[in-house]
Amino acid sequence: MELMEKTVRVELGERSYDVVIGPGLLQQAGARIAPLLNRRRVVVVSDENVAALHLQALRAGLARADIEMVALALPPGESTKGWEQFSRTVEWLLEQKVERGDVVVAFGGGVIGDLVGFAAAVLRRGVRFVQIPTSLLAQVDSSVGGKTGINAPQGKNLIGAFHQPSLVLADTAVLGTLTARDFLAGYGEVVKYGMLGDADFFAWLEKNGPILASGDMAARVEAVTRSVQMKADIVARDETEQGDRALLNLGHTFCHALEAATGYSDRLLHGEGVAIGCALAFELSARLGLCSQEDPSRVRAHLKDMGMKTDLADIPGSLPDAETLVELMGQDKKVVAGQLKFILARGIGQSFVTGDVPPEVVLSVLKDALTQ
Ligand code: GLY
Repeated sequence: MELMEKTVRVELGERSYDVVIGPGLLQQAGARIAPLLNRRRVVVVSDENVAALHLQALRAGLARADIEMVALALPPGESTKGWEQFSRTVEWLLEQKVERGDVVVAFGGGVIGDLVGFAAAVLRRGVRFVQIPTSLLAQVDSSVGGKTGINAPQGKNLIGAFHQPSLVLADTAVLGTLTARDFLAGYGEVVKYGMLGDADFFAWLEKNGPILASGDMAARVEAVTRSVQMKADIVARDETEQGDRALLNLGHTFCHALEAATGYSDRLLHGEGVAIGCALAFELSARLGLCSQEDPSRVRAHLKDMGMKTDLADIPGSLPDAETLVELMGQDKKVVAGQLKFILARGIGQSFVTGDVPPEVVLSVLKDALTQ
């Protein structure tokens, strides 16, 4: 099993860190985290679902290196990512007497990683933290790159900070406990990397996606590693999203409008919205004459092969009209001086950022997508 382990270095000068990927890392968590510690004690924040499934394994993995652990389990779900659970977490960390030199562990999916990372960023003006991501989405995206934060009533992720973790342990064995729906939603972010910057990876996923989804561990490790390597390269070039990092938002402008239209509910998971959004971004690119019509067709064919939500019709319930969806896009964080930014593509693996998209073309793509 250990042979499968991979390490990706996120190169950020004195804030550089490793992302270790492979099965069985929970069991080795103590040995991995020990070099970071001033004293043999960590505080762990997770959610109730993750705690019920995996906290014992983490506790045992830490105990093997004589590391003591105290844990807080927050309620699961996106609504946890707000002021209430955030202040509860910060106060709990203070009650646990976490010191400047201690390490906080974020043990869960994207909600926990973002919230706990933000708590670590502000606690005593910043303490170190370790990400142990348990969802595929968190392993390939949110645990890497230091974006942390919580949601505001005005929108998602509007309150936060860049705070890089000191270590990321992505235990791919833990992915075995995800529901098929959650796994495929995370796969939306995996396939995004191929579409945005690596046509060979996209072709690899076309071939290996099905075995990866059915549990092949070597394929899972490979897919997580290639995704994290791409993200690490982009973050090293542009940590605070002044340029290239925006490429990671391929599909997200459409996705955020669809998430808002479905009330951030169970009707559409974030990764599902990303997949549909990527298909729409390629359709928009083809309409603008940037890529051939074959590219959006190939994207949709792969998403459908994987049994993923691909079209607007795959979202249960009714959606607002195209005009309303465009309006919802206007509330996106990526609006600069009133102009909406899109990530478009000249082909699979060749994306770029632009503000120069005629709104009537976006409208026509959405109108057609709504009648499909
Ligand atoms: N999830 C996009 C980013 O980290 O920039």
